[in-house]
This record gives sequence, structure tokens and C-alpha cells, in this order.
Amino acid sequence: MSGERTFLMLKPDAVQRGLIGEIIKRFEQKGFKLVAMKMTKETEDHLKQHYIDLAGKGFYAGLVKYMSSHPVVAMVWQGKGVVKTARKMMGETNPADSNPGTIRGDFCVEVGRNIIHGSDSVESANTEIKLWFKESEICDWTPSSEPYVYE
Ligand code: RTP
Ligand code: MG
Repeated sequence: MSGERTFLMLKPDAVQRGLIGEIIKRFEQKGFKLVAMKMTKETEDHLKQHYIDLAGKGFYAGLVKYMSSHPVVAMVWQGKGVVKTARKMMGETNPADSNPGTIRGDFCVEVGRNIIHGSDSVESANTEIKLWFKESEICDWTPSSEPYVYE
């Protein structure tokens, strides 16, 4: 089983709209393994660090303020190709460009309310996982379904 991990976060809009279960269900049904999860409201400094690559953008301050003002659900998922596949399952940054069948294509309308974050590379996944979770919060377990997901 691949050790590749990604960081996914259900944004405040997903939480407020009651979409937590619906979104998690998709990654579970795909065959990926949930290894860490918490509901949390983080500080502005934490969200500034999370979105540090966007620090030059005009929407940065508003994004950080929004994301730190409400609870989010932070998760780590593991599986073969999970970083890239999770991004495909999420759809494009702008929900208007996201195909039906993707999370953003099915559940949202505007870029500033696109309900989910996913790491965009294995490298950023590793950085983001370290930022959001202590090693002791990550659960190394073997689902009984593993031989039926991986040959
Ligand atoms: P994310 O990091 O949240 O998974 O989204 P992403 O990779 O698809 O897009 P990214 O370029 O990293 O942008 C991060 C988040 O910033 C908000 N955004 N607003 N107003 C705007 O033009 C704009 N552009 C981006 C979105 O919430 C986006 O997901
Ligand atoms: Mg991004």
C-alpha cells in the first residue's frame, strides 16, 4: 500500500452547509484511507502560513480572515496517487470551471466559497500535514478492505 499522503481541509462553507459527510464519503468510497481528522478553528497566523504561497495576491487577507473565523475539518488521507487524484476529485479552483461529478462541480458556485482545500503536490502535502497535525495525531492502520482495493 502506498505511503503517499495528502492534506485535505473542508472549508468553513462546507461545514456550515452540512456537507462534511457527503465530501468525506467520496474519498472513503474511492478506497483512500483516512489517517487523521479534526474539527478546529485556527488562528490567522496559522492560516497565513498555510496559504503563504498566495501572500502576494489581492484576495490573501480576505481568504485568511475567512478561513480563520470559523471551524474547518482538517484531514490526512493516504493511498496510491492520492495527491493528484484528490485534486481531480475536487475539480478546478473556480467551481464554474469544474465538471459535474467533481466536488466543486457538484456543490458550489464561487471561487471564494469552493468548500475544500487539497494539497497541490506531494511536497506541499508533507509541509501542510506537518503544519496541521502532530505526528502522534496521525493513525497508522490497515483497513481490512486493503487487499480488495490494491492487488
Ligand atoms: P486550495 O489551495 O484551497 O485547495 O485551492 P486551489 O489550490 O485550487 O487554488 P489556490 O490558487 O491555491 O487558491 C487558494 C484559495 O484561494 C481562494 N481564491 N480566491 N478571489 C479569487 O480570485 C481567488 N482565487 C483563489 C480560493 O478559495 C482558493 O481555493
Ligand atoms: Mg492551493
